[in-house]
Amino acid sequence: MGLLPEDLIKALARVRSVGTITGAGISAESGVPTYRGKGGLYDDPEEGDRTIEALSAPTLARDPDRTWRVISALAQRCLEAKPNAGHYALAEIEAKVERFCLLTQNVDGLHGRAGSKNIIDIHGDRLATACMDCGVEGRLTDPGMIRGTPRCPVCNGRLRPGVVLFGEMLPVEKVARIEREFYAHVPDCVMIVGTTAQFPYIVMPVLAAAQAGKLTIEINPEETDISPAVDFTLRGKAGEFLPAIAAAISTVR
Ligand code: OAD
Repeated sequence: MGLLPEDLIKALARVRSVGTITGAGISAESGVPTYRGKGGLYDDPEEGDRTIEALSAPTLARDPDRTWRVISALAQRCLEAKPNAGHYALAEIEAKVERFCLLTQNVDGLHGRAGSKNIIDIHGDRLATACMDCGVEGRLTDPGMIRGTPRCPVCNGRLRPGVVLFGEMLPVEKVARIEREFYAHVPDCVMIVGTTAQFPYIVMPVLAAAQAGKLTIEINPEETDISPAVDFTLRGKAGEFLPAIAAAISTVR
């Protein structure tokens, strides 16, 4: 028997547009730690709560060196990681269908490196920076070398990381893109992959698709709050199921 149920294979063959939502689980097979669960960044009994505190707006305002210590170490790990079969399968699906959008909570940049194009990185990018004084945007090339708070090459102001920290708003233009891609035109198929689905803006596009009678799929080794709402729950690794899904989707462009 194949990896996917026969009725899912049949449904995937009819799909013309795909929306995908990803979380840290898709990068677990690349060696990037997840946030929650065993071995996750917040799971560490010694450092978990301190990590959350370091990655917060009040800490950035009070003690940016502390925020940067955590960000620079995490950014260096992302640079060293490589995309896996799950990331590549999503880029393959994008190349096959008429319309594709990838809403990711991940800040590791692995989707872009695998070739995905229409990405909404709602929580930002660990290698991105913005000056807290003049606003100029930039990118880190060697995060492992950062000591203290890096300085702006234009005005010498202090840089901030280009990620959404605890206590910060989501970027308005990215929220507007979610609206266009997932609500104004609900995709034929919406997949949710490797996330504990903690936030309403992650859960709602799946519920909107289910309500519109579209195909909904979850890929996760564990049960999550969204599991009861989807048509198919695929219990296992993204790197195993996504290539099978990519193979089942027809080329329509
Ligand atoms: P979590 O760490 O909460 O959840 C990771 C999920 O991936 C879990 O449900 C795992 O069961 C699943 N998983 C593990 N290995 C997997 C694999 N090989 N294939 C598929 N799934 C697998 O990560 P997120 O849900 O992404 O926000 O966390 C959401 C947000 O919370 C993050 O973006 C971050 C965090 O606070 C910010 O930093 C703003």
